[in-house]
Amino acid sequence: MTKIVNSWNDFDPLKRVIVGKADFSVIPDEEPATSEKVPVDSEMRGMWGPRPTETVEKANEALDRLAKELESRGVIVDRPTPIQWNQAMITPDFRAQSGMTQMPPRDILLTMGNEIMASANSFRCRYFEYLAYWPLMNQYFEEDPEFLWTQAPRPRLTDKSYKHNYYDEKISIEERLERTANLDFVTTEVEPMWDAADVLRLGKDLFIQHGLTTNRKAMEWFKRYYPEHRVHAVNFPGDPYPIHIDATFVPLRPGLIINNPERRLPEAQRKIFEANDWQIVDAAQPAHTEPPPLCYSSVWLSMNCLVLDHKNVIVEASEVNQLEQMEKLGMNPIPVDFRDAYAFGGGLHCSTADVYREGSMEDYFP
Ligand code: NVA
Repeated sequence: MTKIVNSWNDFDPLKRVIVGKADFSVIPDEEPATSEKVPVDSEMRGMWGPRPTETVEKANEALDRLAKELESRGVIVDRPTPIQWNQAMITPDFRAQSGMTQMPPRDILLTMGNEIMASANSFRCRYFEYLAYWPLMNQYFEEDPEFLWTQAPRPRLTDKSYKHNYYDEKISIEERLERTANLDFVTTEVEPMWDAADVLRLGKDLFIQHGLTTNRKAMEWFKRYYPEHRVHAVNFPGDPYPIHIDATFVPLRPGLIINNPERRLPEAQRKIFEANDWQIVDAAQPAHTEPPPLCYSSVWLSMNCLVLDHKNVIVEASEVNQLEQMEKLGMNPIPVDFRDAYAFGGGLHCSTADVYREGSMEDYFP
């Protein structure tokens, strides 16, 4: 019997990790939660169905490249068990035309010390995604006597979970920004809903983005479930599509965090970091002006890096500005060609979920 699961942050030495798989990925039909995620001018509007096979194969090649790089550095890599997502997802409360994918694992699994918890996602099409990770969870459960295998309270996702007519074809970026600033998102507050990728773990402190995928009730739920932690609700008023915090605010090592210069870190959070001598550095400009085709994410996946330890960090190979900045910040950037996986839900950090990092729960902001 060995200890398999342990992780309290995104920068202590990584020893074991889950890397997603793109098999059977589907672009989901519109539903109350997802229409917000697909920008009005996106080519993905109005199209749904299985993603083109060639793109799935290329994404899997990129994911395999990442897995190989990690393994060559002594990190154990686990992979989910793909599920055929091109089938209806039905519960007593809703029917979704299809599932989505088992990418990215970071959206679904939250590792807190010796616990891995499946999240309470607001997309109906992602309701059963956790199942792709259950064989791994079962393995960890059998092999690690301290592993806590947990599922957050499952939201019902009835029509009451969403604001109706929230989405309007004519909404401009300025109006979206106004909504972000006013904390006006598509989800309601009838039940806690959250994606694990909205949670930035820094030991005792959890910085959780309130946005299109995580609501306020989730913050309250986190406070009660983890009473020994400090929970900070964060809202970045410069983000017109606030989904997931890991292309916005990305720690590299204790005392150093890169910040998306367009999204405007709130003063309250800035003070917490600066009062504890953390350096907040504006991230380098992305090397690309557009995301790749059929991609949900922004060009800021440039900063969605995977930190291996306090020195080494994997950065997407074409992100030349980010690679250069890492060196200036005293990091050793390791380029991996990964852009073909972007359309499947994100970058290097998104596409992974922590299983084991050395270290324990620290208080970085005493
Ligand atoms: N909403 C974010 C996703 C980051 C993983 C972005 O596209 O910038």
